[in-house]
Amino acid sequence: MVRDGSRRAGARPGHDGGEDVGEARVPAFVLAQLTVFEPSLSTDTGVAAGDADRGQVVFESTCASCHGPGGEGGSQGPRLVDSGLDAAVIASTVEQGGGVMPAGLVSGQEQADVVAYVVSISRP
Ligand code: HEC
Repeated sequence: MVRDGSRRAGARPGHDGGEDVGEARVPAFVLAQLTVFEPSLSTDTGVAAGDADRGQVVFESTCASCHGPGGEGGSQGPRLVDSGLDAAVIASTVEQGGGVMPAGLVSGQEQADVVAYVVSISRP
């Protein structure tokens, strides 16, 4: 006996269209840029040395959307943990941006703090 019906026209068993592979991809960075914070333009004259603990708070609210929580790397921003970046490179990246990373996300004391934090996670 031959079993018939292994292929019936119109019926595609086990395929309910759960994954729409053909869907247009909305680049996540477009969304991320909409949530970017207003750069604070306060002109602090006396910026104290950065505080990594305060910088972590800044990082999680301003940078982690791209670089991942704790700088572990995200969908858009590179991993900063163990990156070996020094403070000068981090500060200039924050000031000038790069790729989809906007320039001047933070400045003044917040910048000093977030740089101190990124330095702290960039060291193995
Ligand atoms: C909109 C996404 C986005 C946000 C928000 C963002 N970054 Fe970035 N960041 C990037 C991308 C993308 C790069 C890589 C840029 C390139 O390759 O030119 C980058 C690069 C960097 C680099 C250099 C990494 C390297 O290996 O050279 C540092 C440091 C950095 N970001 C720190 C920060 C800090 C600190 C913040 C928060 C104040 C922040 N980023 C916010 C996307 C972002």
